[in-house]
This record gives sequence, C-alpha cells and structure tokens, in this order.
Amino acid sequence: MSFRVPFVIAIDGPAASGKSTVAKGVARALDCVFVNSGEMYRAFTWWVLENGIDPNNADAVITLLNETSFACGEEEMIGYVEIQGRRLSDEQLKNDAINSSVSAIAAIPEVRERLVEEQRGFARFPALVMEGRDIGTVVFADTPYKFFVDASPEIRAARRSAEGIEDSIEARDLADSMRKASPLKQATDAIRIDTSEMGPDEVVAVVVDSISLNKEAA
Ligand code: DC
Repeated sequence: MSFRVPFVIAIDGPAASGKSTVAKGVARALDCVFVNSGEMYRAFTWWVLENGIDPNNADAVITLLNETSFACGEEEMIGYVEIQGRRLSDEQLKNDAINSSVSAIAAIPEVRERLVEEQRGFARFPALVMEGRDIGTVVFADTPYKFFVDASPEIRAARRSAEGIEDSIEARDLADSMRKASPLKQATDAIRIDTSEMGPDEVVAVVVDSISLNKEAA
C-alpha cells in the first residue's frame, strides 16, 4: 500500500475506551509512529503541580506555560515528550493527582494551542497514529483516516479499575466534553467503534481493514 505523506490515523475517544491499546496495535501493524497526545497534557499537568501552581488558576498556568520548553521525538516508533528537558515515567504521568487535575489544565485554550503545535510537529514523520480527544476534529482535521473509539461506561470503569488506578473517568469525560476549547467529540467523518464487546485484536483489524478499503477506493 502507498499512502500520501504524512499519513495520519486519528484515534479519539473517552478515557478507558481502549483507544491506546488499539492505536498502539494499529501503529505496529502499519509501521507508524504511535503518539499518545494525552501524555503531553499529563506532562504539563505534572509540571504545574511540581511548581505548586493551582491547576484552576489559569493565569498562573499560562505564565508557567510561557516559560516551559517542550521537545518531542520518537524512539522505537513511540512518540515522547520532554518537558524542561525531562522525560517522565509512567508513574509520574498516571496517578491520582494528575488524573484529577489534567482536565482543568487541558481546558485552557493557550495550553491547547501550544500542545497542538507540538502534536502537529510529529507530521515530520511519514506515518503516524495519534490518539487523543481532538485529533480528528482539530489537530489533524484534514486526515481521511479518523476513528472514534468508545465503550459503555460500565466497561470503561471496569477496565480502569483493573489497571489499579484511581480515576473518576465520568467526571473527566464530562469536563473534557463540556469545555469550550476543542471538546471531546466525534468528528462527523470519523468511523465509530464500540469496543465494549470486542477484543483488542478485533478492533485493530477493523481499523486496518477500513484503512485498506478506504485506500483502494481512493
Ligand atoms: O488520553 P488520556 O486519558 O491520557 O488524556 C488525559 C487528559 O488529557 C484527558 O482527560 C483530556 C486531555 N486530552 C485532551 O484534552 N486532548 C487530547 N488530544 C488528549 C488528551
């Protein structure tokens, strides 16, 4: 298969919908760089908390943002972000404190503008799978390959608690969907996949098959 360059697959959806697992599987199957855009919002949230700033104090958050450096790259086909020259561990990015503050930070338009710019920088790689909340609606709105991955609230809550992480996903999804700046929503031209009754391999196959069909039809 040959694709236009950059070739971007956008995978959006709510928390614990299975989008990360699917995005990673699709990236592996199609030899793309995998980027988790949520990690960027989490990394900046870590930095806000590290600096003792209240996530609800938008002015203070924006002042810090303007003094903060980001550097994005790829290692073994996985995208990463460095904040002030530091790469953060999974434990630093995924914990109760970050989970309960990240939506407030991600709702600040200036924060989104800056991180969207960093996310678009990944287009220097020829093929990408990027997952998040606004990849198909904002970050790479022009890509023809868009998926919205969802699952029932019960299944999502069960998946998150199986990971052993405290995360009020309902509150986070509500905040992410209600915010004014690029809220979580399905792009009108995205294919919706309900993963409640599906295994990860099945979902990856649906995405890969639909891209192949779409490509043949083009
Ligand atoms: O994908 P995640 O759950 O790790 O994302 C963490 C938070 O970051 C999520 O609650 C909302 C925000 N986010 C966003 O606003 N836009 C994105 N493209 C990705 C994440």
